Amino acid sequence: MADLSINLAGIQSPNPFWLASAPPTNSGYQVQRAFEAGWGGAVWKTLGEPIINVTSRFAGLNFGGQRVFGFNNIELITDKPLEVNLKEMDETKRRFPKHTLIASLMVEHKQEAWHEIVKKVEAIGVDGLELNFGCPHGMAERGMGSAVGQHPDLIRQQVEWVKEVAQTPVIVKLTPNITDIRFTARAASQGGADAISMINTINSLMGVDLDKWLPIPHVDGKGAHGGYCGPAVKPIALNMVAECARDPKVGIPISGIGGISDWRDTVEFLLMGATGVQVCTAAMHHGFRIVEDMIDGLNNYLDQRGIASVMDIVGKAVHTYSDWGHLNLNYKVVARIHEETCINCNKCHIACEDTSHQCIDIVPDAATGKERLVVREEDCVGCNLCSIVCPVEGTIEMVEIPSDKAPLSWNQRQAALAAGGSCEL
Ligand SMILES: Cc1cc2nc3c(=O)[nH]c(=O)nc-3n(C[C@H](O)[C@H](O)[C@H](O)COP(=O)(O)O)c2cc1C
Ligand code: SF4
Ligand code: SF4
Repeated sequence: MADLSINLAGIQSPNPFWLASAPPTNSGYQVQRAFEAGWGGAVWKTLGEPIINVTSRFAGLNFGGQRVFGFNNIELITDKPLEVNLKEMDETKRRFPKHTLIASLMVEHKQEAWHEIVKKVEAIGVDGLELNFGCPHGMAERGMGSAVGQHPDLIRQQVEWVKEVAQTPVIVKLTPNITDIRFTARAASQGGADAISMINTINSLMGVDLDKWLPIPHVDGKGAHGGYCGPAVKPIALNMVAECARDPKVGIPISGIGGISDWRDTVEFLLMGATGVQVCTAAMHHGFRIVEDMIDGLNNYLDQRGIASVMDIVGKAVHTYSDWGHLNLNYKVVARIHEETCINCNKCHIACEDTSHQCIDIVPDAATGKERLVVREEDCVGCNLCSIVCPVEGTIEMVEIPSDKAPLSWNQRQAALAAGGSCEL
């Protein structure tokens, strides 16, 4: 059995699976049941004021055969007074001292307000703090959440205020509703944050009711933008994690969040630089017990590769994530169709014919009288489209064509040209 424990900026956890600050972490009852089920940590539903909410507040996007492919909410932070939350957090930490308990915080842009709440939550022995600079609705209109997370100066200042009194590590939770997350991540780092977490939810309008002509969800006849999460946001979150992980100006550990549903997603986030992950939608969709499969899967993955500790894979793929200018322009792949499994649905032919490079021919086979699909490899640009649309997994393989030319990136090409050389592709 591999060692699944992690150390995120000094915060110890028995495994990398934490529940994100959200409905699953709204009470002691829930967090304690989650710890019993196997979750290594929990970021408590954001503490702060006022305790206000709306109904209804969630919407789900079902896509293809999958329910809750995307999820959206217009909920606010905690629905309980601070004292009640503190009491339940205290009980939870006493019952589960080895599990990780993080307090998510959101207060007004005032130094005393930050000092006060930090002291209160640290007094009950939390393992760390997470500053919620990501919530995109409700609080943002009042200058909190993503209203802070969109301004590097505000982030830096509020982190500094927190660090003036904080005894435990400070994680800054960032909003994806911004042009380049590295700028806000750098600001958090400059302010003294010990780690960053990402992503909070993405601005979204989930849908419009075709009969009632109302946004989904709506509150008494009106809707507002909500926060989008769930499997659909994973690629966006993974990119943001990777961009921050490879930016030396960020330079602090990352807690990965966004569309993580199983151990595979987790490994991807770890390889791209996250030291642990947080999960919300998958737990809301399937319940706390999904963590059993996550733990088993991660453990088997590591054991099969002879990797002793989960910390050994953190960031191992970050160096492979680069800028377009560094990609080898002389690398070439082509599509190859495996006839044995092809069901002759013609989807690949249509895709290539209509929207790519017209290089999949339909060839009558004289022997069988059937039609075969054949790729003209000299014309194939290796775009992957046919293999993406093919309904039979593995039937279209993308195969590397060896090149007699040396690797050459755009940046190398431009440098050679600038130096007066010639550069043939
Ligand atoms: C209903 C709901 C409420 C949420 N409330 C909070 C919150 O109070 N504080 C916070 O930092 N994030 C909150 N989040 C965001 C989640 O913590 C998480 O960042 C986001 O859902 C992405 O993860 P996921 O794709 O696993 O759901 C909330 C998300 C949902 C769906
Ligand atoms: S990889 Fe692209 S260009 Fe090549 S056959 Fe498939 S769709 Fe056509
Ligand atoms: S899409 Fe796949 S299964 Fe359909 S014809 Fe092309 S190769 Fe065959």
